[in-house]
Amino acid sequence: MQTIPSQQNTSSCESKPYKLEDWQGANCSLNQEYDYWIEDVEGEIPTNLNGTLFRNGPGLLDIFGREIHHPFDGDGMICAVSFDLRKKNVANTNIIYWGDKLLALWEASHPYRLDPNTLETLGIETLDGVLHKDSPFAAHPMIDPGDETREPRLVTFAIKPGPLTTITVYELNQTGKVVQQHDHKIPGFAFIHGFAITPNYCLFFQNPVSFNPLPYVLGFRGAAECIKFHRRSPTKIWLIPRDSSREVQVLETDPCFVFHHANAFEEGDELIVDSVCYETFPGIDHNLNYQEIDFDTRPPAQLWRFHLNLKTKTAQRDLLVERSCEFPFIHPDRIGQPHRCIFLAAAHQPQGDAPQQAIIKVDPEYGEQEFWSAAPKGFVGEPVFVPRTPHIPPYQGGIWGGEDDGWVLTLVFIAPDIIFRLIYHYPNP
Ligand SMILES: [Fe+2]
Repeated sequence: MQTIPSQQNTSSCESKPYKLEDWQGANCSLNQEYDYWIEDVEGEIPTNLNGTLFRNGPGLLDIFGREIHHPFDGDGMICAVSFDLRKKNVANTNIIYWGDKLLALWEASHPYRLDPNTLETLGIETLDGVLHKDSPFAAHPMIDPGDETREPRLVTFAIKPGPLTTITVYELNQTGKVVQQHDHKIPGFAFIHGFAITPNYCLFFQNPVSFNPLPYVLGFRGAAECIKFHRRSPTKIWLIPRDSSREVQVLETDPCFVFHHANAFEEGDELIVDSVCYETFPGIDHNLNYQEIDFDTRPPAQLWRFHLNLKTKTAQRDLLVERSCEFPFIHPDRIGQPHRCIFLAAAHQPQGDAPQQAIIKVDPEYGEQEFWSAAPKGFVGEPVFVPRTPHIPPYQGGIWGGEDDGWVLTLVFIAPDIIFRLIYHYPNP
């Protein structure tokens, strides 16, 4: 609220302290309902201001375009503004080391910086003031290895979902300084967890989902329970140029849900991206807790290859691996470049969904090539590939160039001992 000094009040015959057309803007029909987070907050919301403000009033002031005479006759519109949920930054998704900083990441809020020797939490990381408290910051940055003409960069993004979703792309140089930042608006709600990069593009899959925040903000359900998958809507693939010399493009593909991408690269008129897809959002029945999950009712995650043709604006996809698998990881020198080797955590059984107990090595040309399993008592985590040598020669058709020369590390839980083992050594064959 603005306080106007009394000496500034003027008589109404000279100039009115309002414009009638401004007032009219608040007294017209609202034909569509909206759910969204209010991100633009001036000042601080008091921490002890809790609860939900419900308001009622006429929201529809016409009947099929014919204006009603008095707002008393307008259909009621309920508005709810909730203050009782300050989302906690759980910083639980990924951890990276870049620009001499160890950062714990969670996509809905800022990074936390940790001491790499003691793991002590040092505080919020703002990237020299680029981010502020609660700034979203993706959990899966990609590190572009660069080449003779391009320096290595960490490329990442932030999502602000809403009726119009904003994607902000950030590029950080090797000292951790933000050297590129650009915003893009895309229509509709977007739940985008991971992305892929090439030297010229960032690739975002806009999963066909909507989000009803009300049960979440009122504390009735978790965020994942408020996501609805739309089986008849396409998955949209946004191709955002890393510089401003090209246009943003959007392609459509069959409805599918993607969390993670293995890699993307450019080939002629095409962008090629290998991604782990579910045929629907892998939610959990809200009557169950996570430990009671019924894997048999869940869609398997499978590795697909997408061919995105920039000239015909079409997307075509082929199944690479039928076995349920997730958390793809490739040689760091191949990011954004053609690749022939992907490591993934996978189910022991070849079909259907199941816990991840195995590690597979995939050649996109020939499918699954190697299989290692910790079943029946072992359950694996995300594989991390550590190259034996820091750099390998560029890919040349048919020659792997040593991109599997190194070690795959993963944490394995061995039931019921509640011990974790760091396991799996993969020497170059
Ligand atoms: Fe993830």
